[in-house]
Amino acid sequence: MSSLFFTSIHVLFLREHNRLANQLQKELNTENDELLYQSARKLVIIEMQNIVYKEFLPTLLGRRFMEKYKLDLVGASKYNPNANPSVLNSFATAAFRFGHSMINSLFKVIFTNQEIFWRLSDLFNGKKFNGKHMLDIEPMILGLLNQKAQKVDGSFANELKNHLFTEHSPKQQTHFGGDLVARNIQRGRDHGIPDYNTFRKICSLQPITSFNQKPIEMSREMWRRFQSLYKRVDDIDLYPAAIAENPVDSDALLGPTFSCLIGLQFHNLKYGDRFFFTHRNTNLNYLKKSMLEMEERTLSDVICDNTYIEKVQEKALETPNPVTNPIKACRIRNAPSQTSLADITNIKIKEPHQNPELQRVPKSLDSPDALFDPSSPLRAIQDPTVNTFQTPSIFEAFRKLQNRNFQRSSNKSGSKPIKFLERFDQADAIILNP
Ligand code: HEM
Repeated sequence: MSSLFFTSIHVLFLREHNRLANQLQKELNTENDELLYQSARKLVIIEMQNIVYKEFLPTLLGRRFMEKYKLDLVGASKYNPNANPSVLNSFATAAFRFGHSMINSLFKVIFTNQEIFWRLSDLFNGKKFNGKHMLDIEPMILGLLNQKAQKVDGSFANELKNHLFTEHSPKQQTHFGGDLVARNIQRGRDHGIPDYNTFRKICSLQPITSFNQKPIEMSREMWRRFQSLYKRVDDIDLYPAAIAENPVDSDALLGPTFSCLIGLQFHNLKYGDRFFFTHRNTNLNYLKKSMLEMEERTLSDVICDNTYIEKVQEKALETPNPVTNPIKACRIRNAPSQTSLADITNIKIKEPHQNPELQRVPKSLDSPDALFDPSSPLRAIQDPTVNTFQTPSIFEAFRKLQNRNFQRSSNKSGSKPIKFLERFDQADAIILNP
């Protein structure tokens, strides 16, 4: 666990899942755990996709890059079977680690009667609390809502550069820990990702031929540092150089190389996902109405509906501002709890005739035969005559795994050597330039 503050956001969405599951349980009047779990999960995924593409990515990439990579959620979109939704090595080992530059050394925490700051290195591995206290998520979320992040640039918090996973508080001066930036650079090398210059070419930026040619995207002072650290321009690592680029636009946080990699990754995650919620031709079922409702929900709605926080700014990812981002009372928001989530007229549920205790086991993990048992709740949701729930492919995957004849293909054939090289095939480029 790298930060308690991540955990507070995980808990927020866990509560949202349970809130939706409870609401569906009442509306559908069923105890069918698997149906309620899968339905709530489906709704939370829509909500998350909506928040990521409507609130998070525009803040990160700005208008121009949102359009360039077709990330806007206006109107219906279409699944592209040729889009590869797997995660690029350069995305995980470098580009999406841009967030490390935004981290503060001290994190604000707002309790009802006081505001305090927690030092980051006191929190690593649960050190500060270690099961000694029950900790509410609200003071941490309020702190996150009301503290500015650092810019994405070539500077990093001392707590991350010198005290990562440190065993003692740096207040005791002599104690040092790891260096997250060094880890990021080393991880890129471990994974064999290409150098910065190669990514400039991939992203249609002018390649650098010598140290006399400063990239226009970088300040002179920053470029001088690279000059003093590397012998050849083609040795420069992706992470430190791309993070030091100036933002592409005034409404964006990242430079052109990371904007390109992140734009491409989220393009593929959207168009390569058969069930992405804006692909209107799929997934229409009894949850249709609530799926539409989830599209209206913002991160601040999720905070309002699952915490005791009473006021949140409209755009939770931006700092409050009386004109551009006013703080609003939660109760005047349009919480869906007042409305019905499921189109009950459009679903038939068979109640399981089983010991309720056994309900705790996810049905997808039952024997494959359960699917063919006439009393199985899965039968009800799979019956093609009941035009409702579509079987998530995960069921199929489990079913195959449990099939006695199933054998791992790697057991059959001799294993091939693994190439730790960046996969950056033509298909990625074709999607953007059809
Ligand atoms: C207190 C805040 C944070 C801490 C202490 C932290 C720490 C870490 C550590 C120790 C790693 C593993 C590094 C390695 O050995 O390769 C890591 C990986 C990573 N971090 Fe962070 N991080 C923080 C915040 C963030 C944020 C805000 C983002 C993005 C917006 C982010 C994105 C990533 C990504 C994408 C990875 C690679 C994950 C993987 O491929 O498995 N981190 N972080």
